Amino acid sequence: MDIQLWREILDPYEQAVAELLVKFNNLKEEHRKKNIYSPIESVSGRVKTVTSILEKMQHKNIPFERMEDEVEDIAGIRIICQFVEDIEKVSELIDMRTDMQVFSKKDYLTNKKKSGYRSYHLIVWYTVQTVNGPKKIQVEIQIRTMAMNFWATTEHSLQYKYKGAIPSHVAVQLQKAADAIFVLDEEMSEVRSEIMDAQLDSQIQTNLVKDILTSIENMYKLDNKREVIKIQDEFYRIFQTHDIGELERFHKQLDIIAEGYRAQSIEEKN
Ligand code: GTP
Ligand code: MG
Repeated sequence: MDIQLWREILDPYEQAVAELLVKFNNLKEEHRKKNIYSPIESVSGRVKTVTSILEKMQHKNIPFERMEDEVEDIAGIRIICQFVEDIEKVSELIDMRTDMQVFSKKDYLTNKKKSGYRSYHLIVWYTVQTVNGPKKIQVEIQIRTMAMNFWATTEHSLQYKYKGAIPSHVAVQLQKAADAIFVLDEEMSEVRSEIMDAQLDSQIQTNLVKDILTSIENMYKLDNKREVIKIQDEFYRIFQTHDIGELERFHKQLDIIAEGYRAQSIEEKN
């Protein structure tokens, strides 16, 4: 297999990762815009390096012709959640989608690996459109909490350092760290609703302020500048009270005033 062929094989995987990053980031954005809590904290993705593919094939005795079937993680997406509860939610969101089909699930949450590794894995079929027509490929989606990700990233570096043969005293330390991560995730779950409320409030405020400023800007364009400056001062005053209810009332009032301005400007034009 020459270099050219590797490129050709890996291109659809690059495309899949790029597309899926856009899609999962949009899913996160969609929650934010609708003032709904997003179970997705962040998304990343990568295409496995040729070195890493070759190593896996060697390790698992996979012949070249079987590579695309048996190396399931050539394309990999990682979704990071804040809370363990979010992982199931993300998995449900993926199940609902028609642009990917889940055909295998590995639950290392209830069945953690011997190393201490915890994560939820889905292997999905995803179709990319290429110049040669559609190509259906496998994508591994790993879903885990920030805490689980912290552990896995650190452990992975150690695996690399020790070439897979982590000394037993280090392995024991990692097990202990994994136990601590488990407790941490449990404790975070206990304050989950409080954290979610706080984050939603902050999201609602961000969206409100954006809407209010757009309204003010539009009114400014429609003239009556002195009046608009007064309205803006009133906004600053309310903003400083940190009272979202007040801000919401102000936003509604502003809508009514803006409507009046629009009606007036239409009348003036006629
Ligand atoms: P590979 O582990 O990739 O050879 O494939 P597998 O068929 O054994 O699948 P498995 O579900 O065990 O692993 C899939 C992926 O999960 C790996 O490529 C890693 O990214 C991750 N993973 C699995 N086990 C561990 C672990 O013990 N530590 C870390 N850091 N990551 C792991
Ligand atoms: Mg493995």
